[in-house]
Amino acid sequence: MSGLILGIETSCDDTSAALVDRSGHVAAIRTVSQFEIHDSFGGVYPELASRAHLEAILPVIGEVMDEAGVTPRDLTAIGVTRGPGLIGSLLVGLSTAEALSMGWGVPAYGVNHLRGHIRSVALEGGVTDHPAVVMLVSGGHTLIAEVTDAWTCRLLGTTRDDSVGESYDKVARMLGFGMPGGPAIDRAAKAGTATLRLPRPMKNEGYEFSFSGLKSSVARHVETHPEISPEDMSASFVAACIEVLAAKAERALVECRPKSLVIVGGVAASPQLRAAMAEVADRHGVALCLPPVTWATDNAAMIAMATWDYLDRGVQPDLVPKPNLPLEMP
Ligand code: KG4
Ligand code: ZN
Repeated sequence: MSGLILGIETSCDDTSAALVDRSGHVAAIRTVSQFEIHDSFGGVYPELASRAHLEAILPVIGEVMDEAGVTPRDLTAIGVTRGPGLIGSLLVGLSTAEALSMGWGVPAYGVNHLRGHIRSVALEGGVTDHPAVVMLVSGGHTLIAEVTDAWTCRLLGTTRDDSVGESYDKVARMLGFGMPGGPAIDRAAKAGTATLRLPRPMKNEGYEFSFSGLKSSVARHVETHPEISPEDMSASFVAACIEVLAAKAERALVECRPKSLVIVGGVAASPQLRAAMAEVADRHGVALCLPPVTWATDNAAMIAMATWDYLDRGVQPDLVPKPNLPLEMP
């Protein structure tokens, strides 16, 4: 076995390691999530997240190396998330990668987590024709960008307040569902009907997003209309989110005339969003690129995949955490 990149991801609340070859084949992956640890806090508690990463990181790396029957000699490089993310969480992955790099004599690359999400669509043979319009919808981010080749990104717009994933999680909490909120909301929405007309914030305005008003509107209705079932409330909320996201994607397809529409990030696991975006792409005759559902959420395979681009470009960012690293930076 040769020519593998060991990816390491610890930017938020998932500890993940993966081995990925140049074609995007995932030889092994292991991801440990921290849902139970943070559930009672209603969000990720940074100090506990770093401690959990510390406990999990070496076992997780050992497991993928054993599973794939790989030794350090089989590694071309190590790719580790350097940002954006929680500083303490990032530090665990970065310092582990640095130590392994020195001990094993394998070069290590600091990788932009957002570029990892974008490259998640290349795993297991996925192809993206450029230029592409990319929408990243996750717990930490909501943004839309134009990607002219696999390397060059131009941000079109981002959220003014909450990310879409964050609003899924907060609405899930209001409705009494546990973490992670996204899948719970999806399941409930499937069983319900969008009976309530909620606001579609900024739907007709450029490329910026805003989800905190929508979330507050759900909170008001939950209080004043207890007769509305959690299923119907979820369906109404999902309908509003998806209508806004689809409208922004459509605007970018009209204005940027790309060859592909790429939807990535945790919320890209939503079947409702995938179906809505398939319709949008179809209407405009562009290819729709989605990651496999299991790799829409944070994982190390996408980080390893992105690392191959850094090798090809000869760009080797350092291993210093960058909590606010922007999309345009490597
Ligand atoms: O990409 P991700 O794992 O982490 C960040 O980079 O933020 O995204 C996590 C977010 C959470 O808000 C979670 O509720 C949401 O993705 N999510 C979903 C689904 N699975 C995860 N949202 C909607 N539908 C899903 N099936
Ligand atoms: Zn992410």
